[in-house]
Amino acid sequence: MSFKNSKVAIIGVGNVGATTAYTLINQGLCEEIVLIDVNKEKAFGEALDMQHSIYFMNRNINVHAGDYEECKDADVVIITASVPMDPNANDRLSMLDGSKKVMKSIITSVMASGFNGIIVVISNPVDVMTYYAYKLSGLPKNQVIGTGTTLDTARLAVEISNLYDLDSKSVSAFVMGEHGDSEIVSWHSATIGGKNLEDVMKDNKERTRDETFEKLRKKTTAAGWEIFHRKGATTYGIAASVAAVVKSILFNENRILPVSVLLEGEYGINNVYLSVPTIINQIGAKEIVEIKLDSKEEDALKASADVVSSYYDALKD
Ligand code: 2OP
Repeated sequence: MSFKNSKVAIIGVGNVGATTAYTLINQGLCEEIVLIDVNKEKAFGEALDMQHSIYFMNRNINVHAGDYEECKDADVVIITASVPMDPNANDRLSMLDGSKKVMKSIITSVMASGFNGIIVVISNPVDVMTYYAYKLSGLPKNQVIGTGTTLDTARLAVEISNLYDLDSKSVSAFVMGEHGDSEIVSWHSATIGGKNLEDVMKDNKERTRDETFEKLRKKTTAAGWEIFHRKGATTYGIAASVAAVVKSILFNENRILPVSVLLEGEYGINNVYLSVPTIINQIGAKEIVEIKLDSKEEDALKASADVVSSYYDALKD
């Protein structure tokens, strides 16, 4: 697979789906984008609007509305559709019952087209929805990925870099586990510009102030809600996150990102979709990277896996 003749189908063209499509266009990541939504008029309107933007973009991209049969020759299918989040919700897992019905309908239609590419799930609760998509699709595990804590990892990097007035790309610290309250951070492997984060925090007390690892983790986990409760959705962060995953697939980059993948023994966890550092390339999830966790982090990751897998029974019809 390569950029040449690459086609991405986006299912669900609400705030996240439309922003994702526009992000792919802005970055020139593929040659064709098909927008699929139950609201065909919305999909048509979004596509027409985006076509007008392409006049100003670096690359010509064929973006249009379409139906599920267009997934047949798609390289990547991005699934954003889910039920609307309850405005008073504070847990993505509360979306499960509604989202599972939507996911079943979508996967049935995608697979009926003869699709054999890579599914990237955004729909929340993303770890449970990605496991469900994997089970329903019958695709190999490497071809079904969730965005997981890729976005949380970016949010943590922003929180840390703001303390020291740095570019967030200078921070390397993986958020792992559930994309939700039970997520963990591998602090002892976290660095800024190659220097251990703990040492940076100790050596820059005036900037670190009373910040702690746990306060940073809590702020990262709460960030999605800080946005959601103010603007009713999150869009730019998740769109840029999924674009990074899609770019690594279409350009065969072998980038390591903490996406939601099926663990089968790695980190001592079995048969659970959870975010861990993974090499992403043209085959999807190429290889899980087992970074060294201390015993506390290991236990917390297993606890996060228990939270996610405790919802698998709810997927049974
Ligand atoms: C977020 O945290 C959409 O769950 C995603 O923004």
